[in-house]
Amino acid sequence: MTVPTAPRLFGERYAAHPHETLDQLRSLGPVAWAEIDEGVHALVVTSHRAALDLLHDTATYSKDARLWDALNNGQVPQHSPVLALMGWRPSLLYADDSTHERLRTAMDDCLGRIDLHELEEITRRHASALIARVAPLGMVDVMADYADTVPLLAFADLLGCPPDVGARLVEACQGVINAGPGAGLAARDLIGCLAELVALKRHAPGRDITTWMLTHSTQLSEEEILNQLFVVVGAGTIPTAAWIGQSVRLLLTDEHYSSSLTGGAVTVRRAMEQTLRTHSPMANFSVHFARRNTVLHGVPIPVGVPVMISHQAANTDPDLPSTRGARDHLAWSAGPHRCPAVGPATRIAQAAVETILDELWAMQLSDQHIPNRPGPFHQCPSTVHATFKPTTAVRLAAAAPKPGGTT
Ligand code: HEM
Repeated sequence: MTVPTAPRLFGERYAAHPHETLDQLRSLGPVAWAEIDEGVHALVVTSHRAALDLLHDTATYSKDARLWDALNNGQVPQHSPVLALMGWRPSLLYADDSTHERLRTAMDDCLGRIDLHELEEITRRHASALIARVAPLGMVDVMADYADTVPLLAFADLLGCPPDVGARLVEACQGVINAGPGAGLAARDLIGCLAELVALKRHAPGRDITTWMLTHSTQLSEEEILNQLFVVVGAGTIPTAAWIGQSVRLLLTDEHYSSSLTGGAVTVRRAMEQTLRTHSPMANFSVHFARRNTVLHGVPIPVGVPVMISHQAANTDPDLPSTRGARDHLAWSAGPHRCPAVGPATRIAQAAVETILDELWAMQLSDQHIPNRPGPFHQCPSTVHATFKPTTAVRLAAAAPKPGGTT
C-alpha cells in the first residue's frame, strides 16, 4: 500500500516538538497516516470522539498484532524499536474476546490483591534511598537518578523478587528502557529473570503477584504467566517514570503550583492529574487492527493496518467541550483494554513525587526546554536536571520513613 507523506512520530524533531507534530496530524483529519519508524506507518486517531468509538467497538477492531500485513510481508525491519511493544505476544495486551477476558480477569485479580498502603511505604523507602545518593551533590537528573528506577524497585518487590533476582531485573529493565544497541539482549535477560522467578515461586510461594498468577483459578500456562509478568513490567515502568518526571517538572515550573508547594498532597495530586491530560505518559498507543475494511468518522480503515490512538492528541482535542470533567481524559485508554493498574501506578507515582519534593529542598530546574525520549509511544522527558540545597545523609536518614512490611 502506498502511504502519502505523513508526519513523523519519531526522531529528534518529534521529540523536541511533539505538540506541533500532533497538531499537524490533527489538521489531516480525525484519523490520519503517520510514520512511526523509518518506513513504518500507522493510522493514528487524534479525535477524542473517534478514539472512544474505536476503543469500545470490539466487534470491528481487534488487538491481535498478527493481523499486521506490513510485518507479515517483511516490510517492517526486524530490529525496529516499535516491535518491542507492537510485536505479538501471548498476553492480554494482544488478546480479544474470551481469551482477553480470561487473561484480564487474572490480571485484575492479582493487581487487586496489592496492599496499596504497603506499596506506598515500599515506594517511599526506595525513593528515600535513591535520594540519599544524590543529596550531598546539590544536583540531580530526576529521570536517570530517580524516576526511571523507583517504579522498577517497587515492581521488583511487588513481583516478590529475592534481592539478587531483583537487582538483575532492574538492570535488564534499564537496558530495555535505554533502548540502545543492547536493548534486545536486555529484553532476553528480563524474560530470563522472570522465568527464574516463576520457577522459584512454584516451590516457595509468597505474598506477591508472581505467586498469585501461579495459583489463580484461571490456571494460566507457564508461557501465559511469563507474558503476563512481562507486560506488567514492560507496560508499567516507562509510563510511570514519565508521569513522575513530568509531574515534578510541572510542579517546579508552573507558577500556579510552585507558589503553593506547601499545599502538599493535594497540590501534587492536582499537578499529576493535569500531567495526564496535557502530557499523557502513553502519548500514542492502544494499537488495533480492523477485522474487516471499515470507516471511522469518514476515514477508510483497511484491514491489516495498525490503527493507534493518540491519547495525547485526543486529550487536547479542541472539539472537546470546555465543560468536561478534569478526569475525563484518555491517558489510561478506555474500553476493555483500559489500563488495569491505575491504583498501583498512582500510588507509586504520587509517593515518588512527594518524597523528592519533601527531601530535596529549594529544587530548581536547570533547563527549560527538555526534549522527550525518542520513539512514538511514550511521552517521557529525556532528562530533568535540577539543583537543590545539598543535604547530609544524616538529616535524610532521620527524615526517611521507617521500613514497613514487604510483600
Ligand atoms: C503500575 C504501573 C502500570 C502497570 C502494572 C500497567 C499495566 C498495564 C497492563 C497489564 C495493560 C494491558 C491491559 C489490557 O490489555 O487489558 C495496560 C494497558 C495500558 N496502560 Fe498501563 N500500567 C501501568 C501504568 C500505566 C501508566 C502510568 C499509564 C499512563 C498514564 C498507563 C497507560 C496504559 C494504556 C494507555 C493502556 C492501554 C494499552 C492498549 O490498549 O494497548 N499505564 N497497562
